[in-house]
Amino acid sequence: MLERVHHVGIAVANLEASRALYESTLQMKAGLHRVMPDQGVEIQFYELPGTRIELLAPVGDDSPLVGFLKDRGPGLHHVCYEVKDIRQALKDLLNAGLRAVDDEPRLGAEERLIAFLHPKSAGGVLIELQQA
Ligand code: CO
Repeated sequence: MLERVHHVGIAVANLEASRALYESTLQMKAGLHRVMPDQGVEIQFYELPGTRIELLAPVGDDSPLVGFLKDRGPGLHHVCYEVKDIRQALKDLLNAGLRAVDDEPRLGAEERLIAFLHPKSAGGVLIELQQA
């Protein structure tokens, strides 16, 4: 069902401050950058062969990332798996007992269908599914 790790999401407090680590020290190639005020996040992708790193920083005081950073600090936020058929994968995983954050797939930053599954039902890791 899971094709590959599409990207690993990492929460950061400040995107500009994190660029030095990812671009200078780790020498990663910057990809898509988007500010999504409606979702309370700013994202920056970094390209690697076969996968990506997604940095997520909060936008606004009511961003869901504000609480995450306060509780857990910066670090691993989610793992995104690519799937061929997101509706089927979501259905199968919910039937197997995982809990949805998104009951229905929605459009993500890359204009592909995504859905999140709750970390409490998935060993403490927030899972993102993305349609290939
Ligand atoms: Co993601």
